[in-house]
Amino acid sequence: MTDIEDAEAMSQPTAAELQHQLIPMLQEIQERFGYIPSEAVGWLSQQLKVSSQEIFGVATFYNHFRLNPPGRHEIRVCLGTACHVGGGERLLDTIKEKLGIEPGETTEDERYSLERVACVGACALSPAVVIDDEVHGRMTQRSLKRLLDSLERQDKKSKKRE
Ligand code: FES
Repeated sequence: MTDIEDAEAMSQPTAAELQHQLIPMLQEIQERFGYIPSEAVGWLSQQLKVSSQEIFGVATFYNHFRLNPPGRHEIRVCLGTACHVGGGERLLDTIKEKLGIEPGETTEDERYSLERVACVGACALSPAVVIDDEVHGRMTQRSLKRLLDSLERQDKKSKKRE
């Protein structure tokens, strides 16, 4: 290795240093835009002199970061221990099937986005789903489908009024 290559290797941040630098920057970007736009990843890549893949790696490791714009209705399925044991995965499957999206994605019409989260602080009501910041506890696949249908109806009504 030449001296220049040595110096370049030494100036590359370690994985821990990269996370330490990146997380507050990603948080700030998400607060501003509601998600992490790919243009921002490109900008960070230039600023920090690390690849976009490394930045995506950090952003996707933490559930907290969104890589897509949030939908009008944000759905969060709790998969903390109590909710997982109580059937949270089945609830997640129900939503994935109904909306045709995976966690971290937003429907094409930008109405719904889906996230999986760890404990939302309502373990006594597990399994829980949070829709637009409202916690819905003791959910079953059937009650969840009803809830999503009612959201759909409300949306249609408010669209007619517009
Ligand atoms: S594990 Fe779901 S609310 Fe605590």
